Amino acid sequence: MAASDSSSAGSSTESMLQESRRFPPPAEFAKDAHVTSIEQYEQMHRRSVEDPESFWAEVAEGFHWFEPWTKVLDWNLPDAKWFVDGKTNLAYNCLDRQIDAGLGDQTAIVWEAESPGSDGQFVVEHWSYADLHREVCKFANVLKAQGVKKGDVVTIYMGMIPQLAIAMLACARIGAPHSIIFGGFSASAIRDRVEDGQSRIVVTCDGSYRRAKIVPLKDNVDEALTMTDRVDTVIVYERTKHDGVNYIDGRDHKWDALMADASADCDAEQLDSEDLAFILYTSGSTGKPKGIMHTTGGYMVYAAMTAKLTFDLNADDPNEMYWCTADIGWITGHSYIIYGLLPNRVPTLMYEGAPNEPGPDRFWDMVERHQVTKFYTAPTAIRAFMKWGDEHVEKHDLSSLKVLGTVGEPINPEAWVWYHEKIGGSKCPIVDTWWQTETGGHMLTPLPGATTTTPGSCCRPMLGIDAAVVNSDGEEVPNNTGGILVVRKPWPSMLRGIYGDRQRFVETYWEKVPGMYCPADGARVDPDGNFWITGRIDDVIVVAGHNLGTMEIESALVSHPDVAEAAVVGFPHDVKGTGIAAFVITQGQAPSPGSDAAEAMKKSMSAHVAKELGPISKPDQIRLTEALPKTRSGKIMRRLLRDIAAGNPITQDTTTLEDRSIVEKLQASG
Ligand code: WT7
Repeated sequence: MAASDSSSAGSSTESMLQESRRFPPPAEFAKDAHVTSIEQYEQMHRRSVEDPESFWAEVAEGFHWFEPWTKVLDWNLPDAKWFVDGKTNLAYNCLDRQIDAGLGDQTAIVWEAESPGSDGQFVVEHWSYADLHREVCKFANVLKAQGVKKGDVVTIYMGMIPQLAIAMLACARIGAPHSIIFGGFSASAIRDRVEDGQSRIVVTCDGSYRRAKIVPLKDNVDEALTMTDRVDTVIVYERTKHDGVNYIDGRDHKWDALMADASADCDAEQLDSEDLAFILYTSGSTGKPKGIMHTTGGYMVYAAMTAKLTFDLNADDPNEMYWCTADIGWITGHSYIIYGLLPNRVPTLMYEGAPNEPGPDRFWDMVERHQVTKFYTAPTAIRAFMKWGDEHVEKHDLSSLKVLGTVGEPINPEAWVWYHEKIGGSKCPIVDTWWQTETGGHMLTPLPGATTTTPGSCCRPMLGIDAAVVNSDGEEVPNNTGGILVVRKPWPSMLRGIYGDRQRFVETYWEKVPGMYCPADGARVDPDGNFWITGRIDDVIVVAGHNLGTMEIESALVSHPDVAEAAVVGFPHDVKGTGIAAFVITQGQAPSPGSDAAEAMKKSMSAHVAKELGPISKPDQIRLTEALPKTRSGKIMRRLLRDIAAGNPITQDTTTLEDRSIVEKLQASG
């Protein structure tokens, strides 16, 4: 529910981090971009928020509609209907449109397996629009033959293989909303989602590969299905073909066997613009996961438009090769591996495995071999690459790269600059994209040909997005004053609800600041009009009457030469009310706890923060640690850190932790 430190949510957060570096778009890049200057962006943005209906109508006209809409928007807060009465199909716009235009032979997906083939070369597959279309139609017929009808929720739990894309597009083709579960989740997560989504069918794999080991996906499904009797059908794609996989007669079917007899003719269902396209569960920091609902027309239009603008995609550039390193099990993968990319007719690279398999240079080796032009990853990955060492990057020619993207959490300026210099060769614009599972697509981001970027800022609102930083009464706060980020107008890919929980939808997003969408992030706007995310509003800490964004302190810490990564939380403090606790991963081996070297290092880190941000931001506790408690999606579990910092017993659920042993280590770290 609402922020635990909600006392601070409405008042102003003081922003102390000053960043003066500016990176204008390279002229060479800007001249051919979709949006070529900040003036052009500003003029387009103004028009898009002043007259949204004509703006969105124009964007939506670039897609195939079986029947046109009668009204662009029907808005009854918090319920939006976009492109009312319009009939369309996501899979049709991804595949058939390219084929109809005579371009079916072009590459839609390039897939690379984690392990090499028997010849020692990495296994790469090129899937054209026509190839995908054929398999998608066949699998759509398989689903129908298994009794799946329009509106039935299909659970998908697979590794990062082309068949995952095929399964999701097949669902989209027949109007069966998919509910994709990240392949790193366990049996109980499957059970919860199957139950919540009332899904009777699961599509999975026997196993998937991760760091050359087999993740037993089918075993996990089997275990989940001992805990619910909702599922009567399981379809299994055999990826690993390992021994011991159990098949239950009547319930379990092999993908290949079903596909062998399936027809490749399957008309795309003419779906209503507001038909449910998918459910995707997002954890929220407490309670049971929320099934975020996205619908067909609005999501399609927004995902594809934002992909095109943010990455400046160009279908007519034969060298274009886009790579997003996320897993399709997250919204980033839904929107920016599949649904935003295929309608733009740009090849999307899909990688099966881990970034350090077989070595820490895997990503850079792939960028070089595939001549990747647009690359999209997360700050946590960037910091890992920094820690692994520049030599793994320097081995490779990365000169094909043109735009670099980041998403998922605030990027600290040190990581931003490293990404810019080491990966981008100081020539690639960086797009720091702020958005959420709930928003469906990018909300705040630079446009690479238009925006002068500054490290750590996600810059400007996307076209059509009316974002602002306000106090809890919804009034805009002055520049450089922290407040609550809100979106004041509806946009096409906004969530339509939480599956089965109307009240939670209304309370979570629409009641914190009445009349506005509230994503629960704190932010400020600098005098140039650039947005800075200061962290979740429940991460804001109030120290001696000053409100501080934890992210700013983390950034200051990470700019210390001995710090690789830092997480900052508040803890009860006798004098200040709230003290600042910092959990720090050091560069290289940490000095042993309690040693003079450790104490000296902590002192130097404290002094550094005081120098960067002012003494008020100086941590009261620093704990040197070798790891931070993270969920499998890479988010730091801050509530857990708060309990550790306060010396409280751990009562919360730690089952989503990537490595559970780390809790004891942190408690011992003192
Ligand atoms: C939360 C949403 C959107 C796909 C990945 C995460 C944080 C996301 C940024 C960014 C600062 C960011 C926010 C947001 N976040 N991108 N560029 N800068 N913070 O999706 O799991 O729905 O999480 O991630 O706190 O609310 P998600």
